[in-house]
Amino acid sequence: MLCIKQLHADDFEAMEQIFIETFPRTDDADFANAWRTKECNWSLGLYYNATLVGFAITCKGETSTEARLWFIAVCAKHRAGGAGTRLLTAVMNAVAASNCSLQLTPDNCPRIINWYKRHGFVITKTMPFVHRDIPTCWMKWVSPPSSPTSLASTRTRSNSSIDEFELAVAV
Ligand SMILES: CC(C)(COP(=O)(O)OP(=O)(O)OC[C@H]1O[C@@H](n2cnc3c(N)ncnc32)[C@H](O)[C@@H]1OP(=O)(O)O)[C@@H](O)C(=O)NCCC(=O)NCCS
Repeated sequence: MLCIKQLHADDFEAMEQIFIETFPRTDDADFANAWRTKECNWSLGLYYNATLVGFAITCKGETSTEARLWFIAVCAKHRAGGAGTRLLTAVMNAVAASNCSLQLTPDNCPRIINWYKRHGFVITKTMPFVHRDIPTCWMKWVSPPSSPTSLASTRTRSNSSIDEFELAVAV
């Protein structure tokens, strides 16, 4: 059984290990900075039998109505079964409950950009780089105002601190 709940200070070492494995080219200082400035309500851990197997760190954005997703990662063994979607959706619900939009800068990877698009994110800005095949882009998700019922139900769910589920595939 997997579950999603708020990250705890004790998760730091396990999270750092996942971070190093998942983002080998990203500076540790970026991770430490994101952890230090995270918004607890929006920063969630994915646990498999109480072991941390994924996380999302989200901080306040530039304005009071913006949140920024700094890192989202699921251990390789637990990917492609919907766990990442559950984690991202839980962050979106938590952020929407605070009446904020969610912004991020995805990796320069069409698969990941399309993944975010499938979850309702739109590209807001691009910046071409000479040495990269595709431009860096910025993406944003805003909770749809036209679905008060579904929003109400997701907000109710986000208020419960633990979201438990089975994966679509065995791990
Ligand atoms: C992105 C990530 C969190 C998704 O978690 P997940 O549990 O695999 O997500 P889901 O099962 O809900 O969805 C799978 C989808 O993720 C997307 N994806 C993006 N990068 C991927 C990767 N490296 N491996 C697997 N799936 C990836 C794909 O669109 C895939 O769907 P597809 O097989 O139809 O292309 C996970 O793949 C991961 O940790 N990747 C490495 C870290 C990363 O890229 N983080 C985001 C940086 S912006």
